Amino acid sequence: MPSTTPSVVILISGSGSNLQAIIDASKTDKCPINIVAVISNRPDVKGLERAQQANITTDVVDHTLFKDREEFDQALIQKIDHYQPDLIVLAGFMRILTANFVEHYIGRLMNIHPALLPNFPGLNTHERALESGVQEHGASVHFVTTEVDGGPIILQASVPVKKQDTAPQLAERVLHQEHLIYPLAIKWFAEKRLRLDNNQVLLDQQTLPETGLNYAQGMENQ
Ligand code: GRF
Repeated sequence: MPSTTPSVVILISGSGSNLQAIIDASKTDKCPINIVAVISNRPDVKGLERAQQANITTDVVDHTLFKDREEFDQALIQKIDHYQPDLIVLAGFMRILTANFVEHYIGRLMNIHPALLPNFPGLNTHERALESGVQEHGASVHFVTTEVDGGPIILQASVPVKKQDTAPQLAERVLHQEHLIYPLAIKWFAEKRLRLDNNQVLLDQQTLPETGLNYAQGMENQ
């Protein structure tokens, strides 16, 4: 009998702390998935070690070896499709993806972004949040579409911005929330409760608001 546990490929570029949170959750009923491969665009990153320690197949598609984005993305598609995943998870994957790549996986490609989207898309989100004087910051899990950091939002978690915060302190507070919300959104997808339909997110057949759901403690059990 074919396995009904959804298979997931995770793409990383670095430390892989989100990857670790997803691996840990996948070993419990918090996130019923089978991580079939972890692929990095950089060799020698900590995330690859984390995957190997968990006995997960790893691969590297080094973007510096390709002529352009299009060629890199085509090579990445070939690698990913070899594993026939139900879901592709970007976990600290620091590459802008081409429209061809995104369209190939539309509806089964998720990302986490360290800001309360639509605020602060792009890089250096914590520094920018501090400079702008917002009192709340956070993280967002969203489906990926061709608009960078602009895809429909599934789940957000907020943290307070404190007066004396430095960017690393704020980043740590946000990262802690990332580790809670990413496995949860993946769980909903794995349970077939979550889908992207016509550029809108549906959870249990209900259309979510534009900024997705707000994470609250205890949601994991729902
Ligand atoms: C996270 O803040 C993620 O949202 C961002 O890059 C950071 C990567 O962290 N895209 P890690 O590699 O998961 O530790």
